[in-house]
Amino acid sequence: MRDRLLALQGEASQEIVDAPNLESLREVKVKYLGKKGEITSVLRGMGSLSAEERPVIGALANDVRSTLSTLIEETEAKLESAKMAEKLANENVDVTLPGKSISIGSLHPINAVIEEVEDIFIGMGFHIAEGPEVETDYFNFEMLNLPKNHPARDMQDSFYISPETLLRTHTSAVQVRSMIDKKGEVPVRVISPGKVYRRDDDDATHSHQFTQIEGLVVDSGVSMSELHGVLLHLIHKLFGEETEVRLRPSYFPFTEPSVEVDIFHPEKGWIEILGAGMVHPSVLEKAGYDAEKYTGFAFGIGAERIAILKYDIDDIRHFYQNDLRFIKQFKSV
Ligand code: DAH
Repeated sequence: MRDRLLALQGEASQEIVDAPNLESLREVKVKYLGKKGEITSVLRGMGSLSAEERPVIGALANDVRSTLSTLIEETEAKLESAKMAEKLANENVDVTLPGKSISIGSLHPINAVIEEVEDIFIGMGFHIAEGPEVETDYFNFEMLNLPKNHPARDMQDSFYISPETLLRTHTSAVQVRSMIDKKGEVPVRVISPGKVYRRDDDDATHSHQFTQIEGLVVDSGVSMSELHGVLLHLIHKLFGEETEVRLRPSYFPFTEPSVEVDIFHPEKGWIEILGAGMVHPSVLEKAGYDAEKYTGFAFGIGAERIAILKYDIDDIRHFYQNDLRFIKQFKSV
């Protein structure tokens, strides 16, 4: 029995050392040390031994078993670290692979203009107001001195949705909404950017959809010279302190007097960028303001015009075609 044990120890040791991986090592362990393993079955035969032999063989068997267990543990550790090393080797980061560049978005040039103009007016104590793009004829026209059949409605050929609703033709509708919201209280100082729509054939200088930034101030003693000062401040901030500005008399049904404002561009000459004027007394009255007590000024800026001049763009359609080659040029804006 002693020889058998020693022979098994030799055999098992060899198989343990030769185990190519953890699975085969586990099999070897079961084969020799498991419940039905070889060593176990030798020990089962101890009953037939004499009383002297039994402790000697028992001690030997324990010895063999613990030697093999230790060897198995050591081999297991070795195989495990080899497995880990192999895994790490396969997971190696290949630093020569080309990187994935993450492209960071940028503001659309029209939004960049809106944000810049908003900042300038917030600095002067204005609030941002919003109004719906689908507007009523009442707010878009009636309340702004443009009754049905008024010839000036032709200036703003409209997309009607029903006889009383249309896509707003200008942000001036928000003037009316802002005054009604304030319920006759002063001061009203709002700026309102947004999309507007007119029936126009699209070409390099016309678009059926464009962007305006409306401004409105109502208070006691508001004068034309304040309108002038505010607009000069805006233009000088947007285009530089040296920019020449020209106010031309004009006509809008909702302002009296009315002006159009041009700036001088070294290559393009005088370019109109906005319409403005003193809010017509009847517009004030209709919106709940006593025109004897209060006056106001208003203006409507063409955002595309500003962007075209600021960023030297040759075709208004670029703003809406979403060609990334165009849009990506404004990363630094
Ligand atoms: N709403 C006018 C347009 O779309 C622009 C405008 C003119 C707005 C004079 C105003 C204003 O607020 O006072 O052409």
